Amino acid sequence: MKYLIDSANLEEIRHGNEFYPIAGVTTNPTLVAKEETDLKALISDLRGIIGGKKMLHVQTTAKKAEGIVREAELLSDTAGGDFYVKIPIGEEGLKAASILKKRGIGVTMTAIFTPQQALLAANAGADFVAPYVNRLDNISANGVQTVEEIVRLFDIYMLECQVLAASFKNVRQLHEVALAGAHCATVSGGLLLSAASHPMTDSAVQGFDRDWAAAYGSRSVADLLK
Ligand code: G3P
Repeated sequence: MKYLIDSANLEEIRHGNEFYPIAGVTTNPTLVAKEETDLKALISDLRGIIGGKKMLHVQTTAKKAEGIVREAELLSDTAGGDFYVKIPIGEEGLKAASILKKRGIGVTMTAIFTPQQALLAANAGADFVAPYVNRLDNISANGVQTVEEIVRLFDIYMLECQVLAASFKNVRQLHEVALAGAHCATVSGGLLLSAASHPMTDSAVQGFDRDWAAAYGSRSVADLLK
């Protein structure tokens, strides 16, 4: 499973891109609006940080297929590189996805809450579907099971569409979608840190430091080898 950062905050993305093996960045209108900045400059800055080869997913806000297609083309021209336009699932979104597929623009169909929405999106030519795991859990549904069923459907029908699981609040959800076969998961910088951390890791490193200092004082490995 590949990891992406779900953020429009340049500092968070810069940090995530420097320290973690991320495959790209996803944003949504809420995340972009939080930054209160110029959209065009933000997209260029984002692309500048991650480079042209990593995925960048940016969402449209138009409601009609023609408007979505227009926004997708503008976003694609602005973002360049490996770009995917995020479009919320719905009649207009499905129509736009089919048009964009023919025009060679990558599509991520987002705000997916059921396996049937995902299957329709894949049939319309979407490259990715983004099911919202935590938001499903919050309404007493089962986010991980939904991801599992989408993965199974794509396998049964040999669809190339990938599952880009989104909306996470904890590492357990992240781990369970990985086991369910999600191709990608997009998470906050904070959740990446939680996934990379463990108190026993800290305790192990403290033990190594203590034993090392007892033998070599303040000298480092590099000091001893130069
Ligand atoms: O970008 C869509 C998704 O990641 C939203 O997450 O945390 O707002 O449910 P969240």
